[in-house]
Amino acid sequence: MNHLIFNAPQRLLSCSMQKRSLIVLCAFVIGAAVAGNEGQLWKWTCNSKNQCIRQEYNSSAEYLSVEMCRLVCGNYGAFWPIPRQFNRSTVFVKVHPNRFNFKIDAPGKPKKYFEEVVGVFQSNLFAECGPNCNEADEQFVNVEVTFTSGSMDLDWTTDESYRLQTTDGTWQIIAPNFYGARHGLETLSQMVAPYPDGLVMLKSALVLDKPYYPHRSLLLDTARNYFSVKAIKRQLDGMGSSKLNYLHWHITDSQSFPFVSKQLPNLSALGAYSDKQVYTAADITELVHYALLRGVRIIMEVDAPAHAGNGWQWGPAANLGNLAVCINQQPWRQYCVEAPCGQLNPANQNVYDVLKMLYNDLTDLLPQNELFHMGGDEIVLNCWNTTQEIIDYLHAQGKGQTKSDFLDLWGEFQEKALAKYDELLGHKDSTIMLWSSELTTTDVIQKYLDPKRYVIQTWVPSTDPLPNDLLNKGYRLVISTKNAWYLDHGFWGTTTYYGWRTVYNNKLTSHKNVLGGEVCMWSEFLSEEALDGRVWPRAAAAAERLWANPSTKSDVAESRMHRQRERLVKRGIEAETLTPQWCYQNEGQCG
Ligand SMILES: *[C@@H]1O[C@H](CO)[C@@H](O)[C@H](O)[C@H]1NC(C)=O
Ligand SMILES: *[C@@H]1O[C@H](CO)[C@@H](O)[C@H](O)[C@H]1NC(C)=O
Ligand SMILES: *[C@@H]1O[C@H](CO)[C@@H](O)[C@H](O)[C@H]1NC(C)=O
Ligand SMILES: *[C@@H]1O[C@H](CO)[C@@H](O)[C@H](O)[C@H]1NC(C)=O
Repeated sequence: MNHLIFNAPQRLLSCSMQKRSLIVLCAFVIGAAVAGNEGQLWKWTCNSKNQCIRQEYNSSAEYLSVEMCRLVCGNYGAFWPIPRQFNRSTVFVKVHPNRFNFKIDAPGKPKKYFEEVVGVFQSNLFAECGPNCNEADEQFVNVEVTFTSGSMDLDWTTDESYRLQTTDGTWQIIAPNFYGARHGLETLSQMVAPYPDGLVMLKSALVLDKPYYPHRSLLLDTARNYFSVKAIKRQLDGMGSSKLNYLHWHITDSQSFPFVSKQLPNLSALGAYSDKQVYTAADITELVHYALLRGVRIIMEVDAPAHAGNGWQWGPAANLGNLAVCINQQPWRQYCVEAPCGQLNPANQNVYDVLKMLYNDLTDLLPQNELFHMGGDEIVLNCWNTTQEIIDYLHAQGKGQTKSDFLDLWGEFQEKALAKYDELLGHKDSTIMLWSSELTTTDVIQKYLDPKRYVIQTWVPSTDPLPNDLLNKGYRLVISTKNAWYLDHGFWGTTTYYGWRTVYNNKLTSHKNVLGGEVCMWSEFLSEEALDGRVWPRAAAAAERLWANPSTKSDVAESRMHRQRERLVKRGIEAETLTPQWCYQNEGQCG
């Protein structure tokens, strides 16, 4: 045996080895534990209901931290999200973040990326280990990572599965590709717990895992309020820690346009809140890379034709006509759903050329461009219906001003915007996401949106028939259940806050065309200071729903949810607490 081992459930430091030299080593650790543990008040025991319960330090309780107890108490360990299939030993070894030997067997480029993932793993371990992370003389832990795919693409067909196992004391992660292997390493990082002055890790395990849904996402809205690159990175840290795999970046809206477009600098020059509150090409490239190392792909959304105002006002000065109309118009309730107003001008053909340049500048920064979100929500027809050039445009087509005429106009806008995207890519095989809207109601959607090209993101309440109706018509969906996964609710109007249990228990319709779901963090009432706490750990609750889709409900997940919240906090995310700390220290006693 290479490692110092003690069999946790029996006695805290009962070394399970027989050799004299190792027994000496055990004695050393007992000494270290006591020395590093001065002032510690409590120990923990695993009760008959598999709950970790606090005991007086002088009692005979086995575990020196609740996290250590959580790793081995009961059937589910400390994993989040819960793996599909696993077993693990209840024997601990002491480890140190610097003492892992990695052997990565993978093709060139993904291998390079994986080497950086190892750095993320190491810093996650340091985060658990705490400030007095003592490197004593822990043995090295060997980790062998093997995957064969040379592709770094992530899409809905990517096999994110992995196998994590121990053979002869060596950890092995075997996966088809980078993403599966990354998830495997994340799972390994969830098998550690703080120990006085250091870390312990489970000695062995077997995990066979793969996600239930291929699309597991978080929406961030950086247009209503701006978030720094640093703050966005923290959300990506949380996503990687919870195996969410798409960040849907709602980067623009009528309030502001923070994206610095290379060809169209006026958009941000006239649309950002300040010259500092912008995202440059370098910022986005950095975030794309940061995301990738955490198993996350960024999907960009340019919302159109509504939700476009500030940033679009320079058309006339540039001899391009009105690119948008109703910009900042009052009284706003007549022209948009939310102040300030603005909708793109479908009658102005220059709009489509400008969109093409914008799409070009954005997709240039993304490693994959065959998936794009074109928004498409909340058109207020009255804006277009009170704009003379748009009315004239309809009349010139021999049309009137009925609702159906305006929906046709909206459909025409969408078709032309898509044609520009296709021109840019040079093919018609990309997939476009759109929000559910008046254009996606079951009576009209087939007239405007081809189910082969469009994936609809529904944002209706759980009782609404729309998702099922669209599935019946052959559309693929990403579901954002409005009365569970709208994380902005509870802060405005009559909306109510959805606690983590509501988020967790939101089971989606099971259907092959449900690609997954998304929790949405709209930011009208949210700035960077409160961002982490509003998103986390609730987004993690959705992550387990999407990864594992357990048949059980939140009550079974509670102790692990609390542990995951603790994990996020240690990794630098200011996740909100879900309970008094006494309840974290005494599992199941507050439910
Ligand atoms: C725990 O035990 C030590 C040594 O046996 C003793 O000095 C200490 O007072 C005890 N603490 C408590 C809280 O009983
Ligand atoms: C896990 O299960 C496998 C296969 O059943 C078994 O060989 C292995 O010993 C188990 N590992 C642990 C840590 O229980
Ligand atoms: C930017 O906007 C100004 C008016 O604010 C206009 O004069 C100029 O032509 C615009 N530049 C481009 C490149 O469109
Ligand atoms: C557009 O405005 C005209 C004239 O005010 C009105 O008759 C028509 O009903 C309006 N169309 C819609 C879709 O509201």
